[in-house]
Amino acid sequence: MSDANANDHVPVRPFTVIAIDGPAGSGKSTVGRRLAALLGLHYLDTGAMYRGVTFAALRRGIDPIDADVVARLARQVELTLTDGGLVVDGTDATIEIRGPEVTRAVSIVAANPEVRVEMVRRQREWAKTHGGGVLEGRDIGSVVFPDAALKVYLTASPEVRASRRSKEVTDLSYETVAADLARRDALDQGRDVSPLEVADGAVLVDTTHRDIEDIVAELVALVPS
Ligand code: DC
Repeated sequence: MSDANANDHVPVRPFTVIAIDGPAGSGKSTVGRRLAALLGLHYLDTGAMYRGVTFAALRRGIDPIDADVVARLARQVELTLTDGGLVVDGTDATIEIRGPEVTRAVSIVAANPEVRVEMVRRQREWAKTHGGGVLEGRDIGSVVFPDAALKVYLTASPEVRASRRSKEVTDLSYETVAADLARRDALDQGRDVSPLEVADGAVLVDTTHRDIEDIVAELVALVPS
């Protein structure tokens, strides 16, 4: 266990990037935010960016399958990540990007190679302007920052992941959430471009029965100083 609290800053080298990847419900956001606070780094939820592009497409009546149109939109859309929220072209989309419509369509948008090129470009740019940071997603350690100071792959049993997610989306049953998670796992792991996989050199952490503070303490100790 760590006895550090959120106000303690563990010193890190300038431009430290920490990559956290893993499937939905594996604990990336909780661990990532906590780690960023402890290390005095900014935090980026890259899944919210793919959700933002999906939101923008649905709002304009664009079919997510229409790859060229969605790719063009991805290059134009203004995505502003606030603390825990997302503004898409001036509209607060924080709630909608977690809703069932965006959640259903986002895997298709995230499998679009040109959308990925644009999101990766923006993520690298974000890290440059923020002096590094903790980035979480599916391809951070494998594609976006293969030279990250620390690469982490979080995992957990499908049951625990579904149970965590169904607590967040209270209007859907556990069974619906579990089925959607399994469908998205298959799409994220099976796509041709940047599939979800354990990056070379990543530390594998199973969060199923682990305490958050315990995991964070383990990871802090692995950050090069
Ligand atoms: O983490 P999340 O559930 O909010 O991610 C939404 C979708 O975006 C999910 O289908 C995985 C995909 N994604 C991705 O392909 N690459 C990332 N770096 C982040 C998310």
